[in-house]
Amino acid sequence: MAEPAVLLEAVDLTKRFGKNTVVDGVSLKFAEGRLHTILGPNGAGKTTLFNLLTKDYPVDGGEILLRGERVTRLRPDQISRRGVGRSYQITSVLRERTFFENVWLAAYRAERGGTVGLWRDIRAYRTTAEKSRQVLAEFGLQPFSDRKAADVSYGDQRLLEIAVTLATAPQVLLLDEPTSGLSQRESERVKQFILSIKGKFTIVMIEHKMNVVMDISDDVTVMNRGKVIASGSPQHVAADAAVRSAYFGL
Ligand SMILES: Nc1ncnc2c1ncn2[C@@H]1O[C@H](COP(=O)(O)OP(=O)(O)OP(=O)(O)O)[C@@H](O)[C@H]1O
Ligand SMILES: [Mg+2]
Repeated sequence: MAEPAVLLEAVDLTKRFGKNTVVDGVSLKFAEGRLHTILGPNGAGKTTLFNLLTKDYPVDGGEILLRGERVTRLRPDQISRRGVGRSYQITSVLRERTFFENVWLAAYRAERGGTVGLWRDIRAYRTTAEKSRQVLAEFGLQPFSDRKAADVSYGDQRLLEIAVTLATAPQVLLLDEPTSGLSQRESERVKQFILSIKGKFTIVMIEHKMNVVMDISDDVTVMNRGKVIASGSPQHVAADAAVRSAYFGL
């Protein structure tokens, strides 16, 4: 079978804060339609890597390629318009707005920003409102449509946050610890939700807990101290000595 196309690529990406090199020559390929998980202990540089990929931080070295095209010098809004969607480690939805309003606003902004309709066939949706309802329905969030974000559980807020990112019609979805701060039961729901969208999108997910992701990921990368210490299939990575050392001090 042919290898899936590479959608997003980091080439020797580097970021320094003062004397600290927190992302240190990271090269990674994120292939189309796959769920690629980035694992690593606290401070490994995972979130910083996302901040570089979205250009929220300027890069100190290396390149970012989107479908083979160099996008390293683009602004965050330009990167986002080209289809790199992101959710954050801390919930960032508008708490005083309903689920519908949150999704609508994201979809509206993406449209006005000139995004081509890549989320299914977005042009088939006649209005932003219709599209927003469709996003909520597709992800089983319709019952929450008129609920204020502040009034639902953290787990449901996380689901909303992913839905909001999806409403911007991304080609690649970057999720930073979507289960952080959630109870076991809520984590399981978010995990099931991610499984339900797996394959429809290219997903890059940061996660802390190895056991959460090994069974759902297609590709796994482990970072430690700014570097990639292992990358490959979940089985390959789990068996890796450097990974066991970073995680368990073995
Ligand atoms: N804006 C910043 N200024 C200075 N140092 C920073 C900044 N952002 C991150 N760092 C440092 O970079 C290193 C990597 O941080 P980062 O947040 O990328 O780690 P992480 O792998 O996401 O960790 P966690 O699992 O705790 O979220 C840390 O030592 C952190 O203190
Ligand atoms: Mg982080």
